[in-house]
Amino acid sequence: MAEAKTVHSPLVTYISMLSLLTLCPPFVILLWYTMVHADGSIAQTFDYLRQHGLQGFLNIWPRPTAVAWKIIAVYAAFEAALQLYLPGKTVKGPISPTGNQPVYKANGMAAYFVTLITYIGLWWFGIFNPTIVYDHLGEIYSALIVGSFIFCIFLYIKGHVAPSSTDSGSSGNIIIDFYWGMELYPRIGKNFDIKVFTNCRFGMMSWAVLALTYCIKQYEQNGKVADSMLVNTILMLVYVTKFFWWEAGYWNTMDIAHDRAGFYICWGCLVWVPSIYTSPGMYLVNHPINLGTQLAFYILVAGILCIYINYDCDRQRQEFRRTNGKCIVWGKAPSKIVATYTTTSGETKSSLLLTSGWWGLSRHFHYVPEILGAFFWTVPALFNHFLPYFYVIFLTILLFDRAKRDDDRCRSKYGKYWKLYCERVPYRIIPGIY
Ligand SMILES: NC(=O)c1ccc[n+]([C@@H]2O[C@H](COP(=O)([O-])OP(=O)(O)OC[C@H]3O[C@@H](n4cnc5c(N)ncnc54)[C@H](OP(=O)(O)O)[C@@H]3O)[C@@H](O)[C@H]2O)c1
Repeated sequence: MAEAKTVHSPLVTYISMLSLLTLCPPFVILLWYTMVHADGSIAQTFDYLRQHGLQGFLNIWPRPTAVAWKIIAVYAAFEAALQLYLPGKTVKGPISPTGNQPVYKANGMAAYFVTLITYIGLWWFGIFNPTIVYDHLGEIYSALIVGSFIFCIFLYIKGHVAPSSTDSGSSGNIIIDFYWGMELYPRIGKNFDIKVFTNCRFGMMSWAVLALTYCIKQYEQNGKVADSMLVNTILMLVYVTKFFWWEAGYWNTMDIAHDRAGFYICWGCLVWVPSIYTSPGMYLVNHPINLGTQLAFYILVAGILCIYINYDCDRQRQEFRRTNGKCIVWGKAPSKIVATYTTTSGETKSSLLLTSGWWGLSRHFHYVPEILGAFFWTVPALFNHFLPYFYVIFLTILLFDRAKRDDDRCRSKYGKYWKLYCERVPYRIIPGIY
């Protein structure tokens, strides 16, 4: 299928794949250990490792326990049941490179509210205390690392023996197939979409659940919640709420429409999102910093504004595509390029590229508020330690790489039309000017 090509040179691809496969799992454990047991200080963890060597590292790696497996299994089963059984409108995804059009049930917002209300309700009525999740976090990550790896092997085998649609295939290289995935839209049965589960209902949902967990843990530990933790939790929840509000739009983005279900995306959503994306909140549990009402308020407002702009960029593009360009963008008819392309089956199709509104300011402008939003939910941690900022830095690198991957993909899809688009909307340092 068309997306099998790799963006970087084969050597860079192999090096980055192998390093991610081998370095990400220990990194998740070291980050958790540093946040929870080493005061968020990289120097302290480094000192420990220098003194105790490899054996010391193995000693801090928690073994997956029965409690951890139970928490993961109950959570995963609950989310899978909500995905399958909650009512929702039927929506169609974008047409795939081989001409398929996946159909989804848009019940993400309902699943999100049911999950949060259930979780808070379990705590409120004394049935389950979320601090148990925090207290077993290392074991949970350890179990997720192993479980998700096995799950990716299952995806690889399924892609070979029982693909769900013609949007699948092998690159001929086992490592690339495992890493980038075999299938674009793997399903169990007709209705259970695996990428919706891994990316949205497990990964993104765990972000909100863990943000609440950290907040509740600080409350149970100190009898109150610091304003830094409140700002962090509210901004993360606003971001995840925005995500589920717009979930059907997410099904049109690169993660779902272009990236196949392999280690890169699925392991990332099952392990990296719950651990790394939530890490600023994990840090704040043991650092109840007081910002003061005024500073807390300014950070909160700045963060909400960034999340709103990021949402509005995505909304603008989606609305523009949905109405086939017959919409209003910033009070005017949108300016656009009509780009034609050829599908893998040889059919000629056309797409519209928006060149006004947010999308006229600069290419991939929407990544700027995305990064700034993450900065604002991290900055309540102030600047005593570097580690809480790891997510913002990682996100910046990820989005730069994504912009390049997307440019390369669009150049090969649209050819001269993409060249024209790049001339009209270049990368700009000051949006709209140069
Ligand atoms: N926190 C995270 O880890 C993270 C990671 C990634 C993304 N995100 C967020 O997720 C959202 C979606 O981002 P995304 O990276 O998936 O990319 P996206 O910008 O939603 O999708 C890119 C696709 O949009 C189409 N496109 C490009 N330029 C266009 C234009 N001018 N007009 C109309 N369509 C155009 C192209 O697809 P066609 O083939 O359809 O033309 C392109 O492949 C963003 O808000 C982003 O910030 C978050």
